[in-house]
Amino acid sequence: MNHLVAPSILAADFANLQRDVELINKSEGDWFHVDIMDGRFVPNISFGFPVMKAVKKHATKPLDVHLMIVEPEKYIKDFAEAGAYSITVHYEISPNLHRTVQAIKELGCKACVALNPHTPVALLEDIILDLDMVLIMSVNPGFGGQKFIQNTYKKLADIKALKRRYNPELLIEVDGGVDATNAAKLIEAGADVLVAGNSVFSATDPLATIAQLKQG
Ligand code: DX5
Ligand code: ZN
Repeated sequence: MNHLVAPSILAADFANLQRDVELINKSEGDWFHVDIMDGRFVPNISFGFPVMKAVKKHATKPLDVHLMIVEPEKYIKDFAEAGAYSITVHYEISPNLHRTVQAIKELGCKACVALNPHTPVALLEDIILDLDMVLIMSVNPGFGGQKFIQNTYKKLADIKALKRRYNPELLIEVDGGVDATNAAKLIEAGADVLVAGNSVFSATDPLATIAQLKQG
């Protein structure tokens, strides 16, 4: 499968949100990555429903919603109703992960589980069959513009092996510090979806940067 690129709205100019959403609409990007942070699971607060709904209003591509919040199961219905295509919850904050994953799917959304850099991929062995996607965090969640963690390649090899064994349809997403210098290596290592925030929105030519990321 050709890999997908999901520009992260977290790095957009919120005072010109419609302009930036339209930029992604006309780009080669595939999804909008929407980072929801609550200041509790991660040490930062991003934005909530009003901003997500504003993105949804103008977006012509699917919204890939990454929940970095405690008790995500309380809000998945609201995120589905706000127009999420996929909903990602963190393994580290989901004691009843199987139930949460089923609930996401019952709402008609793709179900994804994210792993922090320290969380071993092997912990997903008994849930992987139920998942549409796994998100491998390549930085510690909470902020855009951080340095890519090299151990991500090892984790990609691990998740690729699990995918091959249990769920060949699974998508593998990588999030954090992705740019044109590591995109090809990440795809080679098994990434199906590249999330990119700062590398896209801080670029002098975001459309060209997205095109580069699509090239790999
Ligand atoms: C970090 C978020 C990322 C972030 C990526 O917690 O999950 O999606 O927006 O930003 P960059 O690409 O700048 O590392
Ligand atoms: Zn994210």
